[in-house]
Amino acid sequence: VINIKHKRSGGIVMNVEEAMKRRRSVRKYTHEQITDTEINKLMHAAMSGPSACNAQPWDFYCVRDKAKIEELQKTTRATDFYSPLIIVVCGDMKRSLDGNIRDFWIQDCSASVENILIEAVELGLGTCWCGLKPKKDCMDRVRAALSLDDSIEPLGLIHVGHPAEEPPARDQYTESFVHII
Ligand SMILES: Cc1cc2nc3c(=O)[nH]c(=O)nc-3n(C[C@H](O)[C@H](O)[C@H](O)COP(=O)(O)O)c2cc1C
Repeated sequence: VINIKHKRSGGIVMNVEEAMKRRRSVRKYTHEQITDTEINKLMHAAMSGPSACNAQPWDFYCVRDKAKIEELQKTTRATDFYSPLIIVVCGDMKRSLDGNIRDFWIQDCSASVENILIEAVELGLGTCWCGLKPKKDCMDRVRAALSLDDSIEPLGLIHVGHPAEEPPARDQYTESFVHII
């Protein structure tokens, strides 16, 4: 059992199972900034995830610049809420696998997103994962906002900030989705 200290719950020690239940999409943040140390911890978590053949075909754009954040917020349409940090998770096709296993990059990057979300729980930060791929227009607008070349595929963006709302922890277990053979 890994003990995780949780600032929001006043320093109560919890384990990974509890962290997974506590991870909820937060859509309201304070204006408190995210520090370099916090970004560094989120990035370590991101790159601790598994990747097919350990290709690690990911890039993480950590955007704190206010003007850029406003530009990025407009790219997802569904999300017009403020956050002091947006992490854009991308696949770099120059580092992806070849041929019919190329698209494994999507699973690699998705695993890194979940790791970021769980690390954020440990840091007492809120997050919201917003999908970009497969919405081509959204991906293109993110590419333009960050001046990314065509070999970089934006998968999704993660809002990160100090939460100004706290959706309750929950367990969504549904027995009928489980097939034990
Ligand atoms: C691939 C993906 C795309 C998502 N896109 C958005 C989005 O555009 N806007 C948003 O507010 N939430 C988005 N979400 C968050 C989901 O709405 C959220 O995870 C879901 O409602 C379950 O709630 P929870 O995260 O609090 O458990 C996305 C989640 C995933 C995994």
